[in-house]
Amino acid sequence: MVFSNNSWAQSFSSGATPSLKPSLTASLTIGPWVLSSPFILAPMAGLTNWPFRRLALAYGAGLTVSEMVSSVALSFRGSKTLGLLKTDPTIEKPFCVQLFGREPERLALAAQVAADQGADIIDLNFGCPAKKVVHSGHGVALLKDLDLAVAIAKRTVQAVKIPVTVKTRLAWAPGWPGVQELAPRLEAVGVKAITLHGRYGVQGFTGEADWAKIAHFAQSVALPVIGSGDVTTAYDAARLLKSTGVKGIMIGRAARGRPWLFRDCLEVLAGLEPTPPSREEKMAAAYRHATFLEAEIGPRAAFLLRTVLMWYVRDLPGAAAFRAAINREEKVAKQLELLTQAFSGDPLIES
Ligand SMILES: Cc1cc2nc3c(=O)[nH]c(=O)nc-3n(C[C@H](O)[C@H](O)[C@H](O)COP(=O)(O)O)c2cc1C
Repeated sequence: MVFSNNSWAQSFSSGATPSLKPSLTASLTIGPWVLSSPFILAPMAGLTNWPFRRLALAYGAGLTVSEMVSSVALSFRGSKTLGLLKTDPTIEKPFCVQLFGREPERLALAAQVAADQGADIIDLNFGCPAKKVVHSGHGVALLKDLDLAVAIAKRTVQAVKIPVTVKTRLAWAPGWPGVQELAPRLEAVGVKAITLHGRYGVQGFTGEADWAKIAHFAQSVALPVIGSGDVTTAYDAARLLKSTGVKGIMIGRAARGRPWLFRDCLEVLAGLEPTPPSREEKMAAAYRHATFLEAEIGPRAAFLLRTVLMWYVRDLPGAAAFRAAINREEKVAKQLELLTQAFSGDPLIES
């Protein structure tokens, strides 16, 4: 049976108005899911919570991925961890949950919990380079033990009926066996797609993502490959999609405060000029991001919004003053007043 996600049709009743139809591209398939767009919001721990994902979907992202979730914590159904699986199945379909861990049985249990909670796809994190993650043998450290990585994927695939994907990097370090050796083994145990961030584990976020290596990989394996790393414009995204053999493009940092980038990507892919967002549209998106967040987590949103609202305001005159002012505010309503002032160019923001 073939499904298609309906995020586009479910986009906001007010605000972002997507201008293209989802039927434009239907080539990225993950198990039974045919995605409506090949442009995907990257998982970003602490950032890609449900409010951010909802905004990206409204602007045409074909898939969003949860923040990475600990397999140990999820297998024990901790309430805070279950909170990371917050979604709305009428909007986010398929719902992709990313898990990290290093014990195959724990991953299997956690995948079952995620599936019970409504996950449609399980993504395994074999790519995170954060020190505390790597020191405990998780994330990209698994590229130092390909047998364990395959065992984790195999048990997870066996444990659930939904498709399992892997997100990883080129290798632990240059000269080490890595994704090229891993991919056929992952395919053999039933993994349905691989996202490749074109850096080595030891690089962290330094240097540049190597799209030549991503292209070589995508053209040499049978699994659908999603490319990730340093995509900052819709022109880059469309060019890389057309020229490298990847089936999807994942965008992370560049989408912070620019959710319309997913609309831009679809427009450029269709041969159109991207629609530049007006000031009003930018403000409306920021406003929505804030109100979604407040609806999810209540007054605690004010703390996260010190970062999130800056993403939207950073290019405006008075951004530095806005930052100082917003960091003093503890109420979302007050922060939104400052946001309105910043977008209207009100000089009060400078005081
Ligand atoms: C703040 C932050 C958090 C991230 N968290 C995750 C994560 O939880 N899981 C994951 O697979 N990748 C994570 N990544 C990596 C991104 O998914 C992506 O692969 C990487 O940022 C490169 O893409 P970009 O240049 O488009 O940002 C994170 C990146 C950033 C900047």
